[in-house]
Amino acid sequence: MITGSQNTDYARGLEGVVAAETRIGFVDGINGRLVYRGYNIEELAESSTFEEVSYLLLYGKLPTKSEFTNFTSKLNADNQINDQLFKILQECTKSSHPMSALRTAVSYLGAMDKNSNKFDLAAQEAMGLKLMGKFPSIVAAINRAQQGKPIIRSTEPNYTARFLEESFGKKPTEFETKVFRTALILHADHGMNASTFASMVTISTLSDMYSAVTSAIASLKGPLHGGANEQALDMLERIGTPKNADKVIAEMLEKKEKIMGFGHRVYKVYDPRAKILKGYAKKLAEDKGHTELFETAEEVEKVMINKLGTKGIFPNVDFYSGIVYKSLGFDPTLFTPIFALSRISGWFARSFEYLHDNRLFRPRSMYKGEVGPLKYIPIADRR
Ligand code: SDX
Repeated sequence: MITGSQNTDYARGLEGVVAAETRIGFVDGINGRLVYRGYNIEELAESSTFEEVSYLLLYGKLPTKSEFTNFTSKLNADNQINDQLFKILQECTKSSHPMSALRTAVSYLGAMDKNSNKFDLAAQEAMGLKLMGKFPSIVAAINRAQQGKPIIRSTEPNYTARFLEESFGKKPTEFETKVFRTALILHADHGMNASTFASMVTISTLSDMYSAVTSAIASLKGPLHGGANEQALDMLERIGTPKNADKVIAEMLEKKEKIMGFGHRVYKVYDPRAKILKGYAKKLAEDKGHTELFETAEEVEKVMINKLGTKGIFPNVDFYSGIVYKSLGFDPTLFTPIFALSRISGWFARSFEYLHDNRLFRPRSMYKGEVGPLKYIPIADRR
């Protein structure tokens, strides 16, 4: 931190700044541990469901059977999108990235919900549940629209299975559902990451949950955040084979390019989520015949750890997720919307938690410009 002329502490990119208190999740960047409400991520990924984890994040405890039924029936009460929104998504996906379509969809739903002008906690909770319940259908519809295919409306109540069924028009296998559910659990929440922070900044103005999620999606889109998963796969496909990894990575680093899917603001060790995803990426790659892609990724990992491990740069969550999603049949442009399909629960939980003791986010910048006062010169007299 540098102390500036206005006697304010300055941390570039707010690095290391603690901006809120939370009971939701803990990212232990030194020991490579991720905890949701006291539970290790490995335990939840193995044993839980996405809905259960979302309940845990939102309400602070694992649900009883009846709490779970009540929660999922709220999520499913109005879980489809209408034809009008599907038409908009068809238009958007002709010209722009699916993340732009997703941002537009959430904004549209907010504009259509007359409760989005209510600011009380109950209204914010109802908006969040309604929006989250629609998310599988929104992201699946974007997938369909992008491929020029008709929308599929499934009555499947399970979040994961509904999304896969509405994306591909067939029931997923048990293993596909397990892998995808695990990926959703792993991505559900992660401290004050950029998109979560964006959602919290928006909600702190007492705006509505749709607006908070729209802000979050806009932030997740960038390649330094959620967009890295798509770029990481693109890089692996360009590298093509394990024997090219060393040369290509060396050239990229020489040009000061960032290697997508590596490094993290908080983790200075291996991201625990990446460890789990790596296992599934390997298994799926073998099942689907992408072994060379997986082996290339492993070689890139080896090269990167050799070169930059001492700087605390290791694979992050975005490195192996692309291989998992590709193996499940998704186009790379869907990878970041899939991240959002999961992170909606973290955005919602953290924004909702923050509202319980709200304080407007309003940091300052350190002014480095001319302090003047300069004399105003009319345009005609300026040289
Ligand atoms: C996510 O915050 C979260 O929790 C996010 C997330 C979540 O779940 O919400 O975990 C999801 O966004 C994961 C991150 C996805 N992004 C990428 O994979 C993009 C590539 N990675 C980076 O650009 C970078 O590592 C960041 C942006 C993720 C974090 O970087 P910082 O903390 O801003 O670090 P930095 O850019 O200042 O780098 C520090 C040093 C630099 O070298 P020096 O100038 O000190 O010599 O590390 C180097 C960087 O050049 N470095 C890398 C690198 N990441 C850092 N060098 C090459 N490739 C990289 N990926």
